[in-house]
Amino acid sequence: MSTNLRGLTIWLTGLSSAGKTTIAAAVCEGLRERGCKAEWLDGDVVRQHLCRGLGFTKADRDENIRRIGFVAELLTRNGIVTVVSAISPYRAARDEVRRRIGHFLEVYVNAPIEVCEVRDLKGIYRRARAGEISHVTGIDDPYEPPFAPDVECRTDRETPAESAASVLRVVDRIGART
Ligand code: ADX
Repeated sequence: MSTNLRGLTIWLTGLSSAGKTTIAAAVCEGLRERGCKAEWLDGDVVRQHLCRGLGFTKADRDENIRRIGFVAELLTRNGIVTVVSAISPYRAARDEVRRRIGHFLEVYVNAPIEVCEVRDLKGIYRRARAGEISHVTGIDDPYEPPFAPDVECRTDRETPAESAASVLRVVDRIGART
């Protein structure tokens, strides 16, 4: 496989516990197996440094996405395949980074809120229901699904390996050599 795949951003959007982090990890592994230089920007990790102090209002989430998009743009234009996993609930913010970056795949990691709430890997739905936190996407905050994602992963119906494979298939198809 090509080791000089040109830079690309693979942006995973979806609800908390939809499976973004799991798929992102598998996609990064697949990219490295292909000899690609891959970097991974995960919302939870980025919020510990680059975006520390940002909360979950629309303004803060949009700022979070702008900062992640800025780094993804730098990496992408230097030939890195950049995987982003962040709820990124607002369509306009996603569309803006897509326009800036250009070579971009939007992946909709989709599971019904009921399924995400049962998984509740980080306990945020339980805390939202208990009234301990607000602005939780899918509960008291909106999620605007992509109109035309490049890939949609239905994580309530497919395994993480199947989801990652469907992303990597598209990467293989579009990942032209420089
Ligand atoms: S985004 O909307 O700005 O893209 P991002 O993916 O970076 O969100 O961060 C989401 C993570 O923050 C979740 O995985 C969860 O751990 C935490 N989180 C999400 N919503 C809240 C909330 N309302 N209050 C506290 N923590 C939250």
